[in-house]
Amino acid sequence: MSELLTANDKRTKYCGEFTSADAGKRVCVMGWAQRQRDLGSLIFIDLRDRSGILQLAFDENTNKAVFDTAFGVRAEYVLCAKGVVRMRSSVNKNIPTGEVELYVDELKVLSSAQTPPFEIVENSSVKPELRLKHRYLDLRRPDLSRNIMARSKISKIARDYFCGEQGFMDIETPCLIRPTPEGARDYLVPSRVHPGNFYALPQSPQLYKQLLMLSGFDRYFQIARCFRDEDLRADRQPEFTQIDLEMSFVTQDDVISVVEGFLKKVFWEFKGIDIEMPLMRMTYAEAMDRFGSDKPDLRFGFELKDLTEIARGCSFKVFSGAVENGGNVRGIKIDGGASAFSRKDIDSLTEYVKSYRAKGLAWYKVQNGEVSSSYAKFLSQEENEAVVRTLEIGDGDIAFIVADKPQVVFDSLGALRCEIARRLGLTKNAGYKLLWVTDFPLLEYSEEDGRYYAKHHPFTMPNPDDLPLLETAPEKVRSIAYDIVINGTEAGGGSIRIHTPDIQNRMFRALGIGEEEAQNKFGFLLEAFKYGTPPHGGLAFGLDRLTALLLGIDDIRDVIAFPKVQNASELMTKCPAPADEKALEELSIAVTKTEEEV
Ligand code: AMO
Ligand code: AMP
Repeated sequence: MSELLTANDKRTKYCGEFTSADAGKRVCVMGWAQRQRDLGSLIFIDLRDRSGILQLAFDENTNKAVFDTAFGVRAEYVLCAKGVVRMRSSVNKNIPTGEVELYVDELKVLSSAQTPPFEIVENSSVKPELRLKHRYLDLRRPDLSRNIMARSKISKIARDYFCGEQGFMDIETPCLIRPTPEGARDYLVPSRVHPGNFYALPQSPQLYKQLLMLSGFDRYFQIARCFRDEDLRADRQPEFTQIDLEMSFVTQDDVISVVEGFLKKVFWEFKGIDIEMPLMRMTYAEAMDRFGSDKPDLRFGFELKDLTEIARGCSFKVFSGAVENGGNVRGIKIDGGASAFSRKDIDSLTEYVKSYRAKGLAWYKVQNGEVSSSYAKFLSQEENEAVVRTLEIGDGDIAFIVADKPQVVFDSLGALRCEIARRLGLTKNAGYKLLWVTDFPLLEYSEEDGRYYAKHHPFTMPNPDDLPLLETAPEKVRSIAYDIVINGTEAGGGSIRIHTPDIQNRMFRALGIGEEEAQNKFGFLLEAFKYGTPPHGGLAFGLDRLTALLLGIDDIRDVIAFPKVQNASELMTKCPAPADEKALEELSIAVTKTEEEV
């Protein structure tokens, strides 16, 4: 019973755009039937498209044939309706078009529909797996649909700002590239023409955008798809999108200032929020020291305080032992938190920090002048007083302390302060706190692998003041790298790049990449640097993260049209999937183990 559109069927506008100003006009609308209500001689259908809902009205007494067609309409039928807009007798205040309805005198069913596996409604409580399996239906839901449209708006603001106002060139870079180590694992693509050889999908356009600076494009911009085979989390997908930029003849301040211009614009145009610029800047060292994190959430306090000196040699072995082993002891205080955290809550917070490798969580509470604590009895009065003084614990407060290796203390307390803020509801409607974190360490030592890794990437410029330390004390070298942090999320990161072969070679050496390997993997870059390289630097935003932040959404899956799930598969098309024998043969690939055998 599907009918076809003809040349006369031209949509007047979207359903959600009708207002009382349209009353009396003859119009045409198209969309999906949200629901049909049969009131005897009257039928109402809510017609939905991406903009919203318009009520269609059918009267048996005035137009029997159209009424009969409407009678057969079920949820998700696709309709084309024509008629005259009229004011409604009973206004529906819940929808923007609630004052009007379309009194239909022509109706075409363009497509019928089976009963969908779940209802197409806002805030669905249906299992995510089922929704992802039918993602095309899930995307009809107004909240998800709005997210995807918001993302499009944000991309447009970025393009308008960078390419329109700031003179950036939108240049595409390849997706089939040479495997290069950039931190995460590569997705590999086998070559048919070159058996045994592989392309990698880019983790980012990093090297190409640098080469474009050598080519003289001066300002590069791309909304680029990136691929990283890493463990998924709420803010990580195996393929994601960057707003990627690179600039020539610039210092860190120049990049920061152009990016701040974008942030100012996107917050204003998208949220109506006027962010004060320039943004606050904090060094990595300060961020770690005060917040235990290189992406501090500044919407709440609970700063870390160092108790190491008080703990040194004290009689509580948990504390003094940690210090003896080169660790430290730090604590946070939650103002007025004494009544908010029962023993049971403290137990659950202890479990929480254990997931960050902390061995335990010591606490101290003062309620109506009465002290209770998990450790106070093990400390002398002076030591207890010193802790209370340092953490500024007053009546009604609770404090939490972790003693361990510095990294464990930072990770666990850094995460704990955020978790406590979440539990106390301090992150709800708390606005936006943006800052730059600067002066990241250039390198990071991996105990496990016994070598250094680049903290940002191997092309990041060391701070010139620290260059002499590159060979003698590499862990002390700071880099000219900066992250933009919004509400405790790393929304973007960038750096000034190395632009001379000698520093690049020294960096490779520090990373344990030998001359031959460097030539092999990055010969093209070292060669390119020989032909006149402008100083350059840039940054990339995670578009998915930025969109989620601007929408106040926790999981970036909700701002991606077709996301992947935890185990990197996509439930709708069921990928990844086995390749057929012939394709594998052409690629000279033999599968040695299947998923079931792993
Ligand atoms: P970086 O690796 O910091 O830098 O990435 C830049 C931004 O991309 C986002 N991001 C991700 N988003 C979703 N899922 C992921 N798996 C994921 N990984 C990263 C983050 C991050 O801040 N080439 C450099 C940029 C530069 O130096 O110019 C780069 O890729 O928001
Ligand atoms: P215990 O002596 O094991 O009962 O520990 C006393 C208190 O110290 C408990 O609250 C533990 O959770 C806490 N604790 C144990 N290990 C640590 C640690 N590494 N850092 C902070 N507190 C700890």
